[in-house]
Amino acid sequence: MENAVNEKRKVVFSGIQPSGNITLGNYIGALRNFTSFDDADCLYCLADLHTLTVRQVPAELRKRTASLAAIYVACGLDPDKNIIYCQSHVPAHAELAWILNCYTYMGELSRMTQFKDKSQKHADNINAGLFDYPVLMASDILLYQTDLVPVGGDQKQHVEICRDIAQRFNGLYGDVFTIPEPYIPKATAKIMSLSEPTKKMSKSDPEDTFIAVLDKPEDIRRKLKRAVTDSDGEIRYDPENKPGVSNLLTILSVLKKESMEDTVASLSGLGYGALKEAVAEAVIAELSPIQERYNAIIADKDGLSAMLKRNAERAAYLAQKTLRKVYKKVGLYQV
Ligand code: TRP
Repeated sequence: MENAVNEKRKVVFSGIQPSGNITLGNYIGALRNFTSFDDADCLYCLADLHTLTVRQVPAELRKRTASLAAIYVACGLDPDKNIIYCQSHVPAHAELAWILNCYTYMGELSRMTQFKDKSQKHADNINAGLFDYPVLMASDILLYQTDLVPVGGDQKQHVEICRDIAQRFNGLYGDVFTIPEPYIPKATAKIMSLSEPTKKMSKSDPEDTFIAVLDKPEDIRRKLKRAVTDSDGEIRYDPENKPGVSNLLTILSVLKKESMEDTVASLSGLGYGALKEAVAEAVIAELSPIQERYNAIIADKDGLSAMLKRNAERAAYLAQKTLRKVYKKVGLYQV
């Protein structure tokens, strides 16, 4: 009996904020890999409550939330096998966050790099939610007894504080929470900005610095034509001295599923124009089928809403089990 039947299936939890456009960087670094956790129970949360920490245009937030749900499905996540849902549809997230607030210190929250960065960027709106952001994220993760949290490197610190909070709570009340591990994809898959290739490609930066998953072929070609390279004219992978060219090569080798050596060899003797053209073709080939599926899903609003409702109910059932245990442990009166 090598494969113990009673071994608990692993739980994978990840979230994306429905703010801004989903980029090629999000796709390569996160979405594309989500389908690979076949043997785990996976939850993918649209972290709409988190987006409120920065001012949003309400109608746009609503639209982007539906759009992100459709992108998840279009990228190949089966909404019957994976729980794809909105954070705000499951009240237990906000409820657990309140409890965990009382087990989190001001000092540890003020050390969070993202809080420091965002406070600088939004100096006119340093709200309590922005400060408390990691506690809500810890609640997201801990509600489902999560084992693995696939995130980008920028979120590693938030998973670490989540572990600290969980360990502190377990230390006081016994084994209530599973202690989660961050799962950070290989550094090679880190996609950089097209205009400043030493910075990560980000959906909150200006339009021309990133490729969006829903960009039309002509936009993809135009953005790549303008991508920053360098003046030595040689196609070579050297992220330190040639960040722009190396970023384009990374995109190409990842999408073609080729090694970097093979990718560079396939372009030998060619110039940057040809490199950009090859990247554009590979990106368009990857994104077109996704966009086709997306268009069908988003056209069926009722179907999409029903899927989100059904999945929120599945999530709420699991979350409630943990929340009830927490309420009991901390001494809230049960009826
Ligand atoms: N904070 C994450 C980000 O901006 C999104 C997120 C919210 C998340 N809750 C999560 C990621 C729980 C992983 C687990 O990228």
